[in-house]
Parts: sequence; C-alpha cells; structure tokens
Amino acid sequence: MSQVDLVIRGARVVSDHQIIEASVAIDGESIVAVGHDDLMPPAREVLQADGMYLLPGAIDSHVHFRDPGYPHKETWKTGSAAAACGGVTTVFEMPNTNPPTGTVDALNLKLKAAESSYVDFGIHGLLGDDTVGHLEELIEAGVTSFKAFVGNTFGNLPSPSDGALLEGFEKLAPLGIRTVVHAENSSILARRQKRMQAEGRIDALAHLAARPVVAEIEAIGRVLTLAEWTGARVHIAHHSAADSLFLIREAKRRGVDVTVETCPQYLLLNTDHADHLGGILRLNPPIREARHNQPLWDAMMDGTIDMIATDHAPHAPEEKTRANIWECDCGFPGIETQMALMLTEVNRERATLMDYVRWSSVNPAKAWGIYGTKGVITPGAHADIAVVDMNKSGILSENELQSISKISPWDGRAVKGYPIHTLLRGRFVMRNGKLVTEAAGWGRSVKGIQAMPKAKPQNTEHYTSAILKTPEGVRPTAEPTR
Ligand code: DOR
Ligand code: ZN
Repeated sequence: MSQVDLVIRGARVVSDHQIIEASVAIDGESIVAVGHDDLMPPAREVLQADGMYLLPGAIDSHVHFRDPGYPHKETWKTGSAAAACGGVTTVFEMPNTNPPTGTVDALNLKLKAAESSYVDFGIHGLLGDDTVGHLEELIEAGVTSFKAFVGNTFGNLPSPSDGALLEGFEKLAPLGIRTVVHAENSSILARRQKRMQAEGRIDALAHLAARPVVAEIEAIGRVLTLAEWTGARVHIAHHSAADSLFLIREAKRRGVDVTVETCPQYLLLNTDHADHLGGILRLNPPIREARHNQPLWDAMMDGTIDMIATDHAPHAPEEKTRANIWECDCGFPGIETQMALMLTEVNRERATLMDYVRWSSVNPAKAWGIYGTKGVITPGAHADIAVVDMNKSGILSENELQSISKISPWDGRAVKGYPIHTLLRGRFVMRNGKLVTEAAGWGRSVKGIQAMPKAKPQNTEHYTSAILKTPEGVRPTAEPTR
C-alpha cells in the first residue's frame, strides 16, 4: 500500500460488540485499514497512543447552537468547538433559533452560520402548524430530520396541534425521515405554571411541580399512537421519567420505529442537588426525584433507551441565576462534558465501553441514517475518532468550557476518563486536550451521506393525501363491489 496520512498505533479499538488491540490507518478523510501493526502501510505521521482507547466520535442528536438569533448564548463556532473538545464529531442541531428553522430562508441562514463548524452536523427542521405544508421543501433544501415541540420550551414556539402532527407524520412516513419530539403536554405545563405563579412560588422546585411526570407520559403516549398509526419514525428527546418507560417498551414490542435518548443530567442528577444548584438546574423536562435515575440506567442497558444525547442548551450565566425561577432560562451546556461524565460511570463499572459506544455513536448513527460512514471504526468509514484516556482524572470546570455559556451543574465534579484527541474525517479538531483553531469550518452537513431506509407507512387509506384525492362519494381504497 502506498503511504497514508496517519497511523494510530498502540491503542485499543472499541465497537459496540468488541474491544481489540489494533492500529488504524487513515488516508484523506477515511479509515483505510484496521488491524495488526505489522500490516499497516507507511504513514506520513504516526500517533503513538499506547494505553488509549479509540472510540467512534460521539454523535449528539440534540444540541442548540443558537445561531441565528441568540449569538450571546452560543454560536456555531463556539458550540462546535465545545463538541470537538468533548469527543463529539457529529451534532444534530435544533430549530428553536430566531428565526426558527421552519422556512427555507431560515434554514439557509443556519447553514451559513454552520459554515464555521468544527464538526459535522445535521439540521432538525421545525414541524409545526405553520410549516407542515413545506416539509418537502425543507428536506430538499437540506434538513436531515424534524423536531416537534409538543412540549413548550425556550423560544416559545407554539406546540403543533395534534392534527398538524398527524399530517406531518403522514407526509414523513413514506420518506422514512425521523421526527424528534419534545414530549410533554403543553396544556398541563401552562396551567400548572400559572397556578404556581399565582400562589407566589418562585423557588426552583416549583418548576418541577409545574411539569409533572404525567405530562411526559401523556405526550409520549399520544406521539406513539400517531407514529404507529402512520408508520412515521419518531425519536423521543431527553427522556426523563421512569414512569413513561412502559410506553416505549410496549411500542417497541409492537414494532413502532421509535428511538429514545436520555441525557447525563437525567441519569446523574436529581432534586437532591436542587438546593445548591437552584436556577442552574432549570431545564425542560425538569430534573426529577432520585427514584428516576436507576430505572433510566436500566432502560439504557436493556435497549428501551437507545442513546445518550446532551440537549446542549447554553444561556448566558446571568440568564440562569435570577432569584425568580420563572425568569431563569431553561437548559445548560453539556456537549463538552458528556463523554467525561459517562466514561467516569464506565470506570465505576456501571456500563462497559462497548455499551457507551452503542449509546454515543452506533445507535445515533443508525437513527439518522449515517451508520457505516459514521459511528464505527472500520475501513471505508469516515475517520471520526475520539482518542480516550480512561486513566486521566480531573475536575470539570465551567470556566474552561469552550461554550460561551460558562455555567454548568457539573462544575467541580470529579471525573476519570477523558477524550484527549478528536479527529473529524482524518483531521485533528482537538489535539492533546486543546482545540485546533485552524479546523474551524472543517465541519459539513451529513445530508449527503444520509440514507434513511424506506419506512412502511400504515393506514394509508386514511392519509390526508388519500382523502383529498377522493372523488365525491368514492373511497379509492375500498374493495370494488362485485
Ligand atoms: O431546557 C431546555 N432548554 N429544554 C429544551 O427542550 C430546550 C432547551 C433550550 O433551547 O434552551
Ligand atoms: Zn433541547
């Protein structure tokens, strides 16, 4: 073999089912060989990585990079720098920017902002009453997937009516495109919040009281009903509660194509932390009582929950620390700390590195139709690699974050296990723990490699399109009468 760009030697390569000692050869943007060091081609550069683990770069299905609209909270450049420094090589970005990503013009603004990205990306377009008529145009113009804010959150985008959601699912089902759903019942949230406010409650726990678990149970049930009826692929964002897992289990058993993410904050934090963290902990869905943590872990282990995402939701520190909980913005940054937090749990033997790779890379890659090119270290795949030191210990510090939003509930937390280099398509975007600033703009959309397998639409005779085509008095799919 002729000379290649880079060989990484001395490390162990991790997939979702094995860990092997192997060298990895990279040429251009791709992996060209994985195997015994003796078999590696000559290389222009060698990275000696003795004792390290090579993980497929993490794929974060849920980030908010705020641009266009709120560049004081985050930009594509700072958000994606945080990704690179967290071992994350692909992100899927949310549409609650300003303008929201529900028109081709707004999408183009976002794609322009994303030109400064350090990491590859997909864009979730907005599915709502105003956009449901334009989904095909948005797909054509570059969105990879959609997001429906069934539960209200930052940006105050109106929740889609059930009718619009059904119609959106009918349109997206035959295309195989997956829709992310923020599954909380908006009407319950709005009414409860008003009542809390009328009672004069301004403490952090009032936020939790305003967003009870039943709001999540109801919304997940409704969304799964519509998904099963139409055959649409759906993805439950930031699953937070133990009590709604039975719905996912049952839907998966019935063959609904639903994928589910949870986030480190729902696995590792609970209301016991509320006293000292206060408004920082305000996010949607809320941090719940301790009884939810372990069932979420169990659901990750048994496959009910498919993946780890972060809901990286940066806000300025002053927007997070107001005395009145209702005036604190919801969410906090997480993309840069996810891997260290989860590797720490691996070191505590709560999961294996293979489990982690399944949650952080393999399953998200499969959900968004990019598996094979991403999510795996194998010849032919993109060279998206997090080089991980499982023995490196440290203390997470919000001041060291790349994110503009230097306020984090993880500040001061001891971790063991860090990404130390991140490669995106063969190029270092983080090296020795430092951002490679020249790599800004190396990221690009994954739209070109995305292949969503055809889905099986259900109940097509009841689709809006079928109904609209019905000539007066004739049901097109009815059995002909003999
Ligand atoms: O806490 C949250 N913040 N939850 C969301 O769903 C949205 C996010 C944001 O955009 O700030
Ligand atoms: Zn979010």
